[in-house]
Amino acid sequence: MITRSQPEAFGERLEFYRQRVNAHLEETLAINKDAPQELKDAMYYAALGPGKRIRPLLSYATAEFFELKVESVDSIAVAIELVHAYSLIHDDLPAMDDDDLRRGRPTTHRKFNEAVAILTGDALQALAFESLSKSPLLSKQPQTQTKIIGRLANAAGASGMAGGQLLDLEAEGRSVDEVTLADIHWRKTGRLIQASIMMPSELANSSAETIRKLDRFGNDIGLVFQIRDDLLEVEQDTEILGKNTYSDENNKKTTYPSLLGLEDARNRASEVYKNVLETLEQLGERAGGLRWVSDYIMNRSH
Ligand code: IPE
Ligand code: IPE
Ligand code: MG
Ligand code: MG
Repeated sequence: MITRSQPEAFGERLEFYRQRVNAHLEETLAINKDAPQELKDAMYYAALGPGKRIRPLLSYATAEFFELKVESVDSIAVAIELVHAYSLIHDDLPAMDDDDLRRGRPTTHRKFNEAVAILTGDALQALAFESLSKSPLLSKQPQTQTKIIGRLANAAGASGMAGGQLLDLEAEGRSVDEVTLADIHWRKTGRLIQASIMMPSELANSSAETIRKLDRFGNDIGLVFQIRDDLLEVEQDTEILGKNTYSDENNKKTTYPSLLGLEDARNRASEVYKNVLETLEQLGERAGGLRWVSDYIMNRSH
């Protein structure tokens, strides 16, 4: 019998969680009933597109780790995905990576237009915080709710994702060393991934030691995620990836493969992944879901 703590059990619940977050995303998008129709259309397009929903999956796996009720993390899963969807819209804009393809479809600024895409990103980000502030379950614990909102704001903001995106653009065409590259990756991608784990952790009465381990896990899996993202861009076909390959090369980005070469970039991902597995081992049996999502991040095809 497959038990709750075994990684494969989480794989069986994957579709349940994906459908769950999609349903809650739809419900949340419907909050802004009186918004202009074009903005609503673009918000639905960007937020409900066929993404992998990795960040919500990490939030649900963390809920399993702490044996929290699934309902208690729905608004967190929605909020993190909304911020992620916003970050993708802006990342693809001509002023940033200038990409035309995302999730196998035209990017939001291609499907609509640039101004609509910018505003859609703004609106999705605001909606993420609106949904956390309106969650009836979180509102029962105002102090915890405030901490969760603060974590997301910090991860998305100037010292997190937005700052990382600026550093990423500044580094175009320049040679950066591995320490700098790891810092850029950590900020632009790692911080939101880590927040997917740390926001639900706020709901648990857990020891400082466990929180430290989860924090380290989030840190390492975030880096593995972005190294794999860099690798996929050169290893995978556009059709499977759903985005244009060699975008990084065209934009003269420093990436793990461009800095270290393919072989060493793969090795680096494996090294960091070893740390991930060690921490998961220390977290014990209840980390089955987190183990499953980690394996998915490391071995994904797109
Ligand atoms: C891609 O993220 C952008 C990065 C932060 C590297 P994902 O690979 O999670 O994108 P979707 O949501 O599945 O499209
Ligand atoms: C995206 O990083 C990071 C954010 C959206 C915050 P990349 O630019 O490397 O990711 P892709 O390849 O466009 O998905
Ligand atoms: Mg980018
Ligand atoms: Mg990009």
